[in-house]
Amino acid sequence: MRILLLGGGGREHALAWKIAQSPKVDELFIAPGNAGTANCGHNVPIQADDFEALKSFALEKQVDMVVVGPEDPLVKGIYDDFQNDGRTAHIPVIGPSKTGAILEGSKDFAKSFMLRHHIPTAKYQTFDGTTLEKGLKFLETLQPPYVLKADGLCAGKGVLILPTLEEAKKELKEMLGGMFGNASAQVVIEEFLNGIECSVFILTDGKHYKILPEAKDYKRIGEHDTGLNTGGMGSVTPVPFATKEWMLKVEDRIIRPTVEGLAEEHIDYKGFIFFGLINVNGEPMVIEYNCRMGDPETESVMLRLKSDIVDLFEGVAKGDLDKRTIEFDERAAVCVMLVSGGYPEAYKKGYPISGIDQIKESIVFHSGTAEKNGRVVTNGGRVIAVSSYGSNKEEALKKSFEEARKIQFTDKYFRSDIGRDL
Ligand code: AMP
Ligand code: GLY
Repeated sequence: MRILLLGGGGREHALAWKIAQSPKVDELFIAPGNAGTANCGHNVPIQADDFEALKSFALEKQVDMVVVGPEDPLVKGIYDDFQNDGRTAHIPVIGPSKTGAILEGSKDFAKSFMLRHHIPTAKYQTFDGTTLEKGLKFLETLQPPYVLKADGLCAGKGVLILPTLEEAKKELKEMLGGMFGNASAQVVIEEFLNGIECSVFILTDGKHYKILPEAKDYKRIGEHDTGLNTGGMGSVTPVPFATKEWMLKVEDRIIRPTVEGLAEEHIDYKGFIFFGLINVNGEPMVIEYNCRMGDPETESVMLRLKSDIVDLFEGVAKGDLDKRTIEFDERAAVCVMLVSGGYPEAYKKGYPISGIDQIKESIVFHSGTAEKNGRVVTNGGRVIAVSSYGSNKEEALKKSFEEARKIQFTDKYFRSDIGRDL
């Protein structure tokens, strides 16, 4: 098979690493990829949302399957674009249709979907510019802290958690006034939930599903979960509180009703669903849906997937996912993210990276890197994920931290407390 993988971050390097291990794969292309994915296949200089160029490339190279890493092309409708074009309709796209991707693309849709299908989530109401006064009144009925969410995609920046009513009111006005452009034309206000978060992933063909290993990610830049939110500073799988009993609740109350709900609403969905969950006194509740895998969760979860991921993708495409097997590695896996100094605020790019060739105990996934004059240089906020196996998370973390110290670039930073809270 010839596979075209879209995206160019750490998640895509981890997916490329796993896809390349499949005996079913003859050729793997990554568009646009990064300096790391070049070791798993051929990088193609096409952006993941340039549908016309991607379709031409897929036809020219006789690609048999497209796997979509990031949400952006999904929310823009790449699945539908391939399907509605007679030339590419035969190429399965692993990822939901545009209407499916709205689970991530609109917080208001996700919340109303959960309400319709009795899926546990925080109480909420949605407001727009014409209902600002009602929104301000609704805030007065809630207890602090206050959770405000821009309806649309905001590159992970659209959720504000505010300690006082005064700040919440001020931010609501700013959001509805265009703080995030059109993405905050509607704002979801919801009840704050107290608990520990956990990311659960499934692959679905629209009818059947397979649950992947769960993971916890670390969003804040500072140790002990302080400072600004980032794309994610590390991840750990398995998650101790995600016991068999807890995962059964997740499956019964959340996963199955979601897959059945999508089918009932005739939403074409063949791909990953990422359930952002929170454990509230032992009960799982949904914080958010994403229509893709998590980053940096993928950089640990892929280590624990023993089965051939391409066989699972074929099951998704053919609608016989129930006939495929999924097996997990019993070991723990973790990822520690090395980031550019300054991230998630302004940072510099283009610093040479050294020491990657000295890493023997861990697996290195490139996140924001590029090749310049034959050298690998920093090219993003999140630069490199150092992923490791261990008989338990402590052992895996020890390896990742030791190996992380061997990789050098100017102003390198990583959190050395990943996994310590579990
Ligand atoms: P989201 O983009 O919806 O995942 O929100 C980003 C982060 O905000 C989540 O990962 C949580 O840490 C936090 N968050 C979102 N909604 C809530 C909520 N209702 N209660 C507590 N924390 C929340
Ligand atoms: N790690 C969280 C995300 O991918 O959105």
